[in-house]
Amino acid sequence: MAAMNRQVLLAGRPQGAVTPDNFRIVETPIGAPGRGEVLVKNEWLSLDPYMRGRMSDAKSYAPSVQIGAVMVGQTVGEVIESQDAGFKPGDKVLAPLGWQLYGIAKARDLTKLNVGRVPPSYFLGVLGMPGITAWFGLYEIGKPKMGETVVVTAASGAVGSVAGQLAKIEGCRVVGVAGGKAKCDYAVQELGYDACVDYKAGNLAAALREACPRGVDVQFENVGGEIFDTALTLMNLHSRIIVCGLIAEYTLPEPYRYRNLRSVLVNRSKMQGMIVFDWKDRYAEALAGLAGRLAEGKLKYRESIVEGIDNAPAGLIALLKGENFGKQLVKLA
Ligand SMILES: NC(=O)c1ccc[n+]([C@@H]2O[C@H](COP(=O)([O-])OP(=O)(O)OC[C@H]3O[C@@H](n4cnc5c(N)ncnc54)[C@H](OP(=O)(O)O)[C@@H]3O)[C@@H](O)[C@H]2O)c1
Repeated sequence: MAAMNRQVLLAGRPQGAVTPDNFRIVETPIGAPGRGEVLVKNEWLSLDPYMRGRMSDAKSYAPSVQIGAVMVGQTVGEVIESQDAGFKPGDKVLAPLGWQLYGIAKARDLTKLNVGRVPPSYFLGVLGMPGITAWFGLYEIGKPKMGETVVVTAASGAVGSVAGQLAKIEGCRVVGVAGGKAKCDYAVQELGYDACVDYKAGNLAAALREACPRGVDVQFENVGGEIFDTALTLMNLHSRIIVCGLIAEYTLPEPYRYRNLRSVLVNRSKMQGMIVFDWKDRYAEALAGLAGRLAEGKLKYRESIVEGIDNAPAGLIALLKGENFGKQLVKLA
């Protein structure tokens, strides 16, 4: 019997937290690529916090997934059949093919990967969208200077771990905020942070103040809510705040109400939201920088892997509860 495709569709929009019944798994024929198209067998699927936003129909920076459509996501896979001169069977590619085992993509939407030096999955993490986000967020908005204090929230995660290590390379005092002792120990002992505050241990405000005796010059914000609000009280004069993500707010019934915004005013802090696509034309620059530091052994990287397409919903649900430890991936093959 010919192989079949297996897809995870959006079955319904979540109200608050994502649940398994928001998804439906189906089997469909694989199909054949037309002219200028390529059939890819997906090997790795990236799970990312932005997917919660795509499941909702609220207006955002990118369109929602339609009910009944394949869930969006980046994949790394192998070319099976190509109707484009630029690709041949066996090529490893980065693709926007979503939650499915096979997919047909326009050749122009694929990136051929050089997988000789690093595992292919790295192109979804440290050498992919999260790494690029950390790079441009830190350098273009944070502009860290030697000796400054940089705070990174979700410090052990895909974006945070790269941002923190880059800030360390720049000679900054780097303070992480993470959930639990294991993540904090990893941030300090493996990633080289100077300190890491476990926000689940209580005493967040006092612990953060103690870890930042000279205040905060750069806040790399991945979480939002109370953690961000607390960090705002420590901002220094002319500090920079990168609003990269607000994962703690994505499933709140109503927006978090900030109490400490006054600190931005009195300290003349510069606060800027970012979406990584804004630097689309400069991805190669970030990737070259990240690959160089990885090759030099200056960037450590960790993955959190669930096995099989059927477990992708559980993987996303866990990620949105902070249960991942490192870049969350689904191994498909
Ligand atoms: N602006 C952009 O272009 C862009 C691009 C990529 C990602 N992002 C954002 O960057 C942030 C990090 O993304 P990532 O891919 O690197 O994910 P990640 O850090 O690998 O995983 C998410 C982490 O968020 C933390 N978290 C804190 N409070 C949470 C809460 N209430 N609920 C769930 N998780 C909580 C958890 O770590 P702890 O256990 O340590 O709390 C969790 O492990 C997200 O907010 C994401 O939306 C933005």
